[in-house]
Amino acid sequence: MDLEIKGKKAIMAGGSAGMGRATAERLAEEGADLFITARREERLVKAAQEMSEQYNTIVTPVVADSSTEEGRQALFAACPDPDILSITIKPPAPNGDFLKVTPDMWRNSIETTLIGPIEIMRHYIPGMKERGFGRIVNIATFSAKNPMIWRLMSGPARSALINYTASVSREVAQYGVVINNLLPGMFATEGASELLEDYASAFGLEPKQEIVAEHFMANNKIPAGFMADAGDLAPMAALLCSPLSRFIVGQNIVIDGGQHASLF
Ligand SMILES: NC(=O)c1ccc[n+]([C@@H]2O[C@H](COP(=O)([O-])OP(=O)(O)OC[C@H]3O[C@@H](n4cnc5c(N)ncnc54)[C@H](OP(=O)(O)O)[C@@H]3O)[C@@H](O)[C@H]2O)c1
Repeated sequence: MDLEIKGKKAIMAGGSAGMGRATAERLAEEGADLFITARREERLVKAAQEMSEQYNTIVTPVVADSSTEEGRQALFAACPDPDILSITIKPPAPNGDFLKVTPDMWRNSIETTLIGPIEIMRHYIPGMKERGFGRIVNIATFSAKNPMIWRLMSGPARSALINYTASVSREVAQYGVVINNLLPGMFATEGASELLEDYASAFGLEPKQEIVAEHFMANNKIPAGFMADAGDLAPMAALLCSPLSRFIVGQNIVIDGGQHASLF
């Protein structure tokens, strides 16, 4: 299927690893003129080089922290007029005892996972409206609708993000600007392995791969029977970035192997 993305200008904010990189790869494969961002320069530059060589397209790396105004300005300067915008951002580490979550921890979570994506969308939506075309896809988390006591620093702020996009998407759809959210469940990504120590300390476990994995699988029933690869999310992300998705507005699509059981 031709996703009609060829030649479109696309940003993958958070595109050097994990689901962001997998999404960027699909967009590059489709022939988008791509900008990818991340905080860590070395991995970002390598990812951009690898993708442009593999897919024979332009991939521009921009070192930018989406959770800071300075980082966002760097992105805006590098790519003022994208057709496609996908955003993912790493939330603060898993919390331990919920009674020990402080106001500063909440502020950090909100600054990162809520205000970061909102400010990037708020900057780009007017131009997309003027040009009569835009696709925005937030890669957030299924804990936005599937509360998890150890993910208070990720889920609640993302519930607010999907609430925001539910409103804004319905306001801007008339101008050809379409916003949707992907809510991933458990994915075996670089980011997930970086959480090993935090996860262990949240549950008082020894920070050993096998101990954490056993605890994790015992406490997270995934009907599909496995943790996903980053690439399991990318086809849906690419479809939502495509002109073909013009009638899919303000949706929250859970990609979790069936872990979150609900009708909608
Ligand atoms: N993996 C899972 O099981 C899982 C489960 C539920 C939800 N999620 C959510 O899905 C999203 C993607 O997760 P992932 O596992 O694919 O993560 P990942 O492997 O860590 O990749 C995240 C990408 O985003 C970049 N990034 C993170 N924070 C950023 C920031 N503030 N500004 C700019 N770039 C940033 C990272 O590079 P730098 O670190 O260099 O900035 C990297 O390129 C996250 O929002 C995560 O909370 C993941």
